[in-house]
Amino acid sequence: MKILVVGNGGREHAIAKTLLRNPVITQVLCVPGNGGTATTDGCQNIAMGVKDFTGISRLALTHGVSFVVIGPEDPLAAGVADSLRSQGIAVFGPNKDGAQLEASKAWAKELMAEANIPTAQSASFDDLDGAIAYLDQQGAPIVIKADGLAAGKGVTVAMDLETAKDAVKEVFGGKFGEAGSSVLIEEFMAGREASVLAFTDGKTIRPLVAAQDHKRVGEGDTGPNTGGMGAYGPAPLVTPELMKTVETKILEPVIQTLAKRNIDYCGIVYAGLMITPDGSPKVVEFNCRFGDPETQVVLPLLETPLHQIMQACIDGKLGQIPPFQWRSGCAGCVVSASGGYPGSYEKGKVIMGLDAAETESTQVFHAGTKSTSSDGSPTVTTDGGRVLAVTGMGEDFDQAFAAAYKSLGAIAFDGAYYRRDIGYQVRSTTEIKSDHAGVAEQD
Ligand code: AMP
Ligand code: GLY
Repeated sequence: MKILVVGNGGREHAIAKTLLRNPVITQVLCVPGNGGTATTDGCQNIAMGVKDFTGISRLALTHGVSFVVIGPEDPLAAGVADSLRSQGIAVFGPNKDGAQLEASKAWAKELMAEANIPTAQSASFDDLDGAIAYLDQQGAPIVIKADGLAAGKGVTVAMDLETAKDAVKEVFGGKFGEAGSSVLIEEFMAGREASVLAFTDGKTIRPLVAAQDHKRVGEGDTGPNTGGMGAYGPAPLVTPELMKTVETKILEPVIQTLAKRNIDYCGIVYAGLMITPDGSPKVVEFNCRFGDPETQVVLPLLETPLHQIMQACIDGKLGQIPPFQWRSGCAGCVVSASGGYPGSYEKGKVIMGLDAAETESTQVFHAGTKSTSSDGSPTVTTDGGRVLAVTGMGEDFDQAFAAAYKSLGAIAFDGAYYRRDIGYQVRSTTEIKSDHAGVAEQD
């Protein structure tokens, strides 16, 4: 089998590597891929944009791929899956209508209201005066969100009214472009966060083990939000009992409500959850794709062949495959970023030590990297903000993170930055704790 994976992040490298663990997968084509997929046996990078509708379909047809996996939200929201399906190409990933779950926060809120899914109270505004008047009425703490896709950066958790008003003005001032034509103002939820990713064929929905990510750039969960600085799973916060509640109160109602709207959803539903102080889950957001870096911890734990699950989703037969098999133990992932990220940073730094970093208990996933070949041997350089995600595996989280940090220690590039406290909630060895406890723990 050949499979085409669209995207160039750590998530896509993890998907490609996981698919290739099974010998029936002979080749994974990556559009455009990164330095990791360029140097992984069985992967081939094709330089092409992730929204190049015609290029991707031509590639899928000429190579006779079994299906296309679309990793990021952007091409899903732009309708790349619709275009491929209209040409008879099998796709893992929702059509444009289903991708609204992530692409429009207001649309997702409406769907949650219809499905009776627990989430924060909210109101949507497309004018500044209306939004300001609502803020005055509600007070702080309160949360401001640009409606559309803003790469995780369109959200302000405002602890005072002035910050809230500034955030609303920024959104309407055009900071987020199209994504900021309307604003969602949301009740602040206290608690601890967890991510539950679930496979669905539009009828059946099956969760993966829960993960927790660290969104803030700084140790102790401080500083600005990023795409994610590390993650771990299975997250003990999500007990089996809580997972059952997530399934019956959140995941199943989403799929039933999408189906009621005639949306045939195939792919991943990612529920970003706040586990509130009384122990009940509320939805912070939905994403229409695998999380990054959550994927880098959940896929190394998955033993059921990934292509079988994806194929079952495509065929509408997810309900027929046996319960997913999981490797015992824990996974911890630490992201190494370019100095300056999530602000400005330099690219093109040579990365050393990659070969030695991958061991029996670690996997190195590339994100913002590029491979160039001179005299036959590849040189991998930095090419983005989040550069690498190193996942360690172990019997417990201490072992998993010890393995991840040891590997990270073997890798060097100019300006490399990583948090030393990833997984502090579940490790016995870290001294750094969140100083956000009692507010919203950003984990
Ligand atoms: P989102 O892009 O909607 O996931 O929001 C980004 C981050 O902002 C979340 O991971 C939370 O840490 C925080 N956040 C979003 N909505 C709320 C809320 N209603 N209450 C508290 N924190 C929130
Ligand atoms: N790690 C958060 C996300 O993938 O959206």
